[in-house]
Amino acid sequence: MKEAKQMSVSAIQNGTVIDHVPASNLFKVIQILGLDRIENQITFGTNLESKKLGLKAIIKISGVFFEDKDINRIALVAPDAKLNIIKDYEVVEKKVVEVPEIIVGIAKCMNPKCITNFETVTTRFSIVSKKNISLKCHYCEKITNQENLEII
Ligand code: CTP
Ligand code: ZN
Repeated sequence: MKEAKQMSVSAIQNGTVIDHVPASNLFKVIQILGLDRIENQITFGTNLESKKLGLKAIIKISGVFFEDKDINRIALVAPDAKLNIIKDYEVVEKKVVEVPEIIVGIAKCMNPKCITNFETVTTRFSIVSKKNISLKCHYCEKITNQENLEII
C-alpha cells in the first residue's frame, strides 16, 4: 500500500492551489496575481523538492477562484504551474496555465528607448514564441526574451 503523503503546507477547505511554481519566481507570481493586496488567507511553501523543476514553490489561496485570463498571466514566469481547484477539501478540478496571445502590463520592454520606458504607457506585447517565451513590443517592435524578462 502507498504510504500517506505528508503535505508540506496544510490542506485548504476552499480555494486555489498553485503548484509547480519555480521557487525563483514565487514572488513574481505573488506580484502578478496581486496576492499582496488581498485579505484572503494565503499559505505558501518554497524551496520544496520537485523532480521536474529542481526547487518548486506552492501557493494556497483560500476562498479565491481565478478567471482563466487572470491566472494565465503567470504563464510568463511559471509556465509549468498546475492549478488545483479545491471545494470542501476535495480537488474538484485541475488546470494548467496557458501563455496568452497578448500580454498587457506585466513585462518591461527591454529596449531602453521604448516609449513605455520613459512615459506612463502600459506595456503591451504579442507572443512570438510560447516555448521559450519571447515577446514583441506593440510600440517599438523589439523582442524581449525570457532571459531579459523583467516583471513590472
Ligand atoms: N491540496 C490542498 N488542500 C486540499 C486538497 C489538496 O492544499 N484540501 C493540495 C495538495 O497539497 C496538492 C494539490 O492540492 O499540492 C493537489 O492535490 P492532489 O491532486 O490530491 O495531489 P497530487 O495527486 O499530488 O496532485 P498532482 O500530482 O497533480 O500534483
Ligand atoms: Zn518597446
